[in-house]
Amino acid sequence: MKLARIEGVTLRYGERVILQNCSLDIEEGAITCLIGLSGSGKSTILRLLNGLRQPDAGRVMVRGVDLSNLRDRQLIDFRRKIGFSFQFGALFDSLTVGDNVAMPLREHTKMSKSEIDRIVLETLDTVGLANARDQMPSQLSGGMVKRAGFARAVVSNPDLVLYDEPTTGLDPVITHVLTDTIKRLRKQLNGTAVVVSHDLESIYAMADYVAMLFEGAIIAYGTVAEVQQSANPIVQQFIQGSEVGPIPI
Ligand SMILES: Nc1ncnc2c1ncn2[C@@H]1O[C@H](COP(=O)(O)OP(=O)(O)OP(=O)(O)O)[C@@H](O)[C@H]1O
Ligand SMILES: [Mg+2]
Repeated sequence: MKLARIEGVTLRYGERVILQNCSLDIEEGAITCLIGLSGSGKSTILRLLNGLRQPDAGRVMVRGVDLSNLRDRQLIDFRRKIGFSFQFGALFDSLTVGDNVAMPLREHTKMSKSEIDRIVLETLDTVGLANARDQMPSQLSGGMVKRAGFARAVVSNPDLVLYDEPTTGLDPVITHVLTDTIKRLRKQLNGTAVVVSHDLESIYAMADYVAMLFEGAIIAYGTVAEVQQSANPIVQQFIQGSEVGPIPI
């Protein structure tokens, strides 16, 4: 089953074409990892999937619904079912870590305060931040900000979680914890995840499917083993991190 599909999408920023006739299926209950060069449009694909951006051509379908047909109110409802762990944390500076994580529950559910407190603490615990609940974002390290953003993205058990570089800049231990957390959430809730990452080791550990974006389109898609065995020299150069090959540097 496909949870979402990007169909023949073209997207420009001004004159620059970022995506060109790009198509990608997101399988339900699976972890799809999106790889590609810096600036290739990976974060843009996540923004398309939660309706933050509209394509210039083509369409984005989630559960059979074309997102461009949703009106403002419907789009807001739709976004509630999607967790977004942003590349750069994006916490509210004036709120404590706990209040940041509680926000999706306070705004979108009728849970009691004690129930929310319990779930927030549980979720912070999963990312190793239980002790940081009452701290302000400015008191956290970069890695902690990332983990708090991650907790906020998953706290309401969304159908689909979009992770933009969840492990970039984190130490190997926390990277491992977060990789396992993504996998566990997928298993427990049959949730679907799309993970943008440069961290090949954690991708290989968690991906059901890997998609590689290059020059506006998906040039490789398959299981980890399939992509590792790709005959495409661009894919091979990328996953081997080689300076030598067809990728323009
Ligand atoms: N709002 C915007 N206005 C203009 N250009 C943009 C905007 N957002 C992104 N871009 C450009 O579009 C391209 C794709 O950006 P995007 O953030 O999707 O890339 P990315 O693959 O996530 O890169 P990275 O790995 O560095 O995070 C980049 O060249 C970026 O400079
Ligand atoms: Mg990005």
